[in-house]
Amino acid sequence: MTFDAHPRSSLIVALDFDSLSTALKFAKQVADLVGMFKIGSQLFTSAGPEAVRQVAQLGAGIFLDLKFHDIPNTVAGAVLASAAMPGVQLVNVHALGGSAMLRAAAQAISAGVPMGADRPRLLAVTILTSMDQKAVREVGIGGPPATRVVKLAILAQKAGVDGVVASVRETKAIRKACGREFLIVTPGVRLKETVVGAKKDDQARTATPREAIRAGADFIVVGRPILAATDPRAAAQEIVDEIASAK
Ligand code: C5P
Repeated sequence: MTFDAHPRSSLIVALDFDSLSTALKFAKQVADLVGMFKIGSQLFTSAGPEAVRQVAQLGAGIFLDLKFHDIPNTVAGAVLASAAMPGVQLVNVHALGGSAMLRAAAQAISAGVPMGADRPRLLAVTILTSMDQKAVREVGIGGPPATRVVKLAILAQKAGVDGVVASVRETKAIRKACGREFLIVTPGVRLKETVVGAKKDDQARTATPREAIRAGADFIVVGRPILAATDPRAAAQEIVDEIASAK
């Protein structure tokens, strides 16, 4: 897959809805302004592969955010099925599934793709950004989460994974450790507080689109700043303009 160079291709909009009709109604409003739509476990659990098919018909790519974490054989099957769905350009798994699971996922991502066709890219989630040091220690993982995140990114890269989902806080360190070609997808993006209606919601560590791109993100994931905006098209356009000015 070759990602086109237009700034909009770096914008992924999260379709965090539980109804396909609501998701489609919203997606249609902004489809020409975004690179991909992210379909996560909420929409996929309620609407299934039909959600992928119908959203893909709008023309933007799909980031299927189902964060698989299971034994290698099962994850390979799930990744293969994800990659076979129309329009899917990004799929993800948990790096904590270990290197055998990551290798199985990396092999599966190209297995069902016809020769010469673009394959989707595989991302790993390192440590969930909702987990602080205490939460990480509670599950038996030692050391500062930031160090662990970079080590897991390196592990994923060695296993053949194409990139990671990471907060802007870790983006620079991952870029340095994993190089220019490794994909970094950054959520937690907010417009400046000076912009009317800009809010942080429950995101603790936010960055503006410009900060995220400047830190080295290839893609930014944006939900509520566009979903809840009074004018979603204007909000999406503003983010695309900011991406353009940061590149
Ligand atoms: O509404 P908001 O812009 O906060 O949405 C961000 C999206 O990115 C949501 O779909 C959320 O689940 C996802 N995400 C995140 N933080 C992560 C990984 C994914 O906010 N570390």
